[in-house]
Amino acid sequence: MITRSLGSDLYGPADEKESIATIHAALDAGITLLDTGDYYGMGHNEMLLRDALRGRKRESVVLSVKFGALRDPEGAWLGVDARAAAVKTFLAYSLRRLGTDYVDIYRPGRFNPAVPIEETVGAVAEMIQAGHVRYVGLSEVGADTLRKAHAVHPISDLQIEYSLISRGLEAKILPTVRSLGVGLTAYGVLSRGLLSGHWSTERPVAKGVPRFKGENLEHNLSLVDALRSMAKAKGASVAQLAIAWVLSRGDDIVPLVGARRRDRLSEALGALDVTLTPEDLARLEKAVPPDAAAGDRYDAGQMAMLDSEKATNSVV
Ligand SMILES: NC(=O)c1ccc[n+]([C@@H]2O[C@H](COP(=O)([O-])OP(=O)(O)OC[C@H]3O[C@@H](n4cnc5c(N)ncnc54)[C@H](OP(=O)(O)O)[C@@H]3O)[C@@H](O)[C@H]2O)c1
Repeated sequence: MITRSLGSDLYGPADEKESIATIHAALDAGITLLDTGDYYGMGHNEMLLRDALRGRKRESVVLSVKFGALRDPEGAWLGVDARAAAVKTFLAYSLRRLGTDYVDIYRPGRFNPAVPIEETVGAVAEMIQAGHVRYVGLSEVGADTLRKAHAVHPISDLQIEYSLISRGLEAKILPTVRSLGVGLTAYGVLSRGLLSGHWSTERPVAKGVPRFKGENLEHNLSLVDALRSMAKAKGASVAQLAIAWVLSRGDDIVPLVGARRRDRLSEALGALDVTLTPEDLARLEKAVPPDAAAGDRYDAGQMAMLDSEKATNSVV
């Protein structure tokens, strides 16, 4: 299991001290993989990790860093840059902000259609040769892009949304990941909090995303109600059930759970004690079938940027 403190803009404001305490609590609980992006709070999250890791052994954590997203000073998304020169530049800045001389897993946050994936991965591979990076990862790419990238340099990990209500990857991407021996870090395990049992309509992340709007939201919350009664019967919370389901998908899949506070972290860690029997899994499948969610997981602009959502990925 992995966690990252979400103190850097995408999930609302966070208290810096509590963010650092949350990271410390995660490390003390045995979590070793910390995932971030240089564009999370425009470098803020990397500096938060640097502060949190001060005094700890660098080798005791696996730092996974995403790059490539372009943002303006107001935080607006301007596109992606994954050219070789951009890869090296982004990395130089990340190393400085993180206060380290290497990143364990380095990956473009999104595929840049204007740049061959071979160029992007080739640049990360050069940085491996130079000792600044250990492994290459990818994020939200489809099966074809993954194969092309893997032919340039072995890909260690694909990061992609995967939860009870986001299962598009099961048709083609997951089998490809497995056939290539690539690992998978699953984000959106709680669907940005929708599957957490703590949902509130005030959440900033809801804006503009079809899944979090109007009738879609009502429908999706009715799925959460079905989970709530199953969770209660298991003596678990909805969030724990949602995380346990991802854990049940295979040892090659690592749930990536974001938490800004220690109470959320310890709830998430409780999922490790939830064992789902084959009967539980069958009941979950029935309550929330693969295509049960209403509405896309990103707004139209972001959906268009997802290589993983190309039609070729939805057929076996
Ligand atoms: N590769 C990509 O494109 C991509 C995209 C998004 C995220 N990610 C990665 O995935 C990580 C997780 O983000 P996510 O989008 O997948 O978020 P998530 O885990 O689906 O949802 C996290 C949100 O759920 C809420 N929550 C409620 N109960 C919780 C509990 N017990 N434990 C933890 N959270 C609980 C938290 O809300 P409160 O704020 O109320 O606590 C938190 O903000 C990020 O940190 C990032 O590293 C990657």
